[in-house]
Amino acid sequence: MKMIEGHVAIEPPHGVPVWDVDPYDPEILADPDAYYAELRSKGPFVYIPRYSILACGRHQETQEVFSDWERFVSSRGVGLQDFKLETPWRPPSIILEVDPPAHSRTRKVMARVLSPKAANALREQFRAAADKLIDELLERGSFEAIAELAEVYPTDVFPQAMGLKKVNRRYLIDYGAMVFNALGPDNDLRRKAMAMGPQIVPWITEQCKRENLEQEGFGAEIYAAADAGEINEGEAGMLVRSLLSAGVDTTVTGIGSALWCLATNPQEYEKLKDNPKLLRPAFEEVLRFTSPVHSFCRTTDRDTQVSGVDIAAGTKILCVLGAANSDETRWPHAEKFDVDRRPTGHLAMGSGIHGCVGQNLARAEVGAVLAAIVQKVGKIELTAPARWRPNNAIHALDSMPLSFTPH
Ligand code: HEM
Repeated sequence: MKMIEGHVAIEPPHGVPVWDVDPYDPEILADPDAYYAELRSKGPFVYIPRYSILACGRHQETQEVFSDWERFVSSRGVGLQDFKLETPWRPPSIILEVDPPAHSRTRKVMARVLSPKAANALREQFRAAADKLIDELLERGSFEAIAELAEVYPTDVFPQAMGLKKVNRRYLIDYGAMVFNALGPDNDLRRKAMAMGPQIVPWITEQCKRENLEQEGFGAEIYAAADAGEINEGEAGMLVRSLLSAGVDTTVTGIGSALWCLATNPQEYEKLKDNPKLLRPAFEEVLRFTSPVHSFCRTTDRDTQVSGVDIAAGTKILCVLGAANSDETRWPHAEKFDVDRRPTGHLAMGSGIHGCVGQNLARAEVGAVLAAIVQKVGKIELTAPARWRPNNAIHALDSMPLSFTPH
């Protein structure tokens, strides 16, 4: 059995174009639009020989593969490595990297802890923190929007909502980036991420323990599920770890990308100021337009067929969510950021049973920041070009010098 990047090498299925591309090339990761378009233009699937995987980027097939958990499982890893054949770098997530019935049990706990009601209860707190931060930045006029806004806000409000007793802003952000880089091949990005492990992982593991969480917050609620016998103590720690893996870097990215969309589309920002009711759909459009999670894998668990293509058991499929979200057959003028669009069906938060369980909270956090900005800021301008930070699974900004002008 020949292995490539931790999974079994496959032959290209009949009729599927072979495309000699590296989806993890830092240049593509930083500026993926041309790659997305070419991927869609080649057909429902392409075969990428360098990694011996299939990739899909049209909305229809990407959604089908990403949401059909029976044929396309998550338990074999959502990156290139096949957990059935190789041991992953950390114990697999007991929510993201499992299938039903194991998934249903942990998902139930997390869905309750992160319910719309729980997110609603935090709205005032989130808004007060957003008002304070935006006032400070307005006072300064110009600032570094990633380091001083996008990274600051979630690492302030989220650990508090979780009840973390200790906060290390850098470790929280870098742990998320590490987990996402680990989903890619053995490239520079992954190697650099893994090199941070010995420093960051023990700190993260420590913060997941019951005694390091306040008596109120998401952490305590997860441990309460252990007290009630729904999960065991070890599983509670693992679910707290999932919050730290998936809840910080993603929201940092969402805020940075929202600011970038508004700064580079001033006419759309004017519309938001005139009609703050557009804020909610505008964030959905940010998600569609920028796809913070650009690609995740699934593994075919049996021989199957999608859109007439035969796919063998054990195949790794790279689901390119960023390409699906810019599919013009689904969204006319997909290349335009349009706050009047209602982009229902975008895949930025996933689809099906693994669809983002933290989405209510992400919307509440980013919504509070955008509401404060719309109320206070007349103009958002880039003062130098924004730079993207290549990551094997996340499309995130590295730096974005901005200026805010008051109304
Ligand atoms: C803009 C912010 C966010 C984006 C774009 C995002 C994106 C995603 C996506 C695409 C998935 C699906 C993964 C898959 O199907 O394999 C997912 C799942 C998940 N997300 Fe989020 N997420 C965000 C914020 C959050 C937050 C704030 C939390 C925690 C509070 C969170 C926790 C999770 C967890 C635990 C899962 C796994 C759910 C499951 O497998 O059932 N996410 N997210």
